[in-house]
Amino acid sequence: MPGPEDTAALGAALAPCLEPGLVIYLSGGLGAGKTTLARGLLRGLGYTGKVKSPSYALVELYKFSRLYLYHFDFYRFNNPAELGEAGFREYFTSDAVCVVEWPEKAAGALPAADIRIDLKVKGSGRQAEIDADTEIGRVCLERLETH
Ligand SMILES: Nc1ncnc2c1ncn2[C@@H]1O[C@H](COP(=O)(O)OP(=O)(O)O)[C@@H](O)[C@H]1O
Ligand SMILES: [Mg+2]
Repeated sequence: MPGPEDTAALGAALAPCLEPGLVIYLSGGLGAGKTTLARGLLRGLGYTGKVKSPSYALVELYKFSRLYLYHFDFYRFNNPAELGEAGFREYFTSDAVCVVEWPEKAAGALPAADIRIDLKVKGSGRQAEIDADTEIGRVCLERLETH
C-alpha cells in the first residue's frame, strides 16, 4: 500500500463486510497505519466526524444504525489484569464490532480475534497481512474478496 489513502481504503473496503460481534485485532508497531485503517473503516461505515486516536481514553464508541463500533487502543496499557476490573470485557458484545490496536498489551484479557490485520512498514509504504481465525471472520474476508 503506497500511501495512507491506500491503508484507509483497505479499512473502508472492510466496512460493508462487517457483522455485529466481530473482533478485529490491528497489530504492527508505532506508525504502522493501524489508526489510519480504523479511520478508513469508520469513514466506510459513514462516519464523517473527527476520528480520535483513543490512546488516552483507551476506547472510543461510534454508533451506526446497523451496529456499534468500539475502537480500542491499548498502547498505554500495561497491566492486562486491570482490564477485567475496568469492565472492558463488557464492550465485547454480540451487537458491537470491536477494533483493537495493540491487542498484545492486553494479552489474555481480551476475547480472541475473528480477524487479525498485521501492518508493517515497507519502504515508504505499508504491507498488510490479513487472517481470519473464526467462521464469522472467514465469512467477512470472503465478502472483502468478492467486493
Ligand atoms: N500505506 C501507507 N503508506 C505511507 N504512510 C502511511 C500508510 N498508511 C499510513 N501511513 C502514515 O503512517 C503514519 C502513522 O499512521 P497511524 O495510522 O497513526 O499508525 P499507528 O496507529 O499504527 O501508530 C501516518 O502519518 C499515516 O498517514
Ligand atoms: Mg494508532
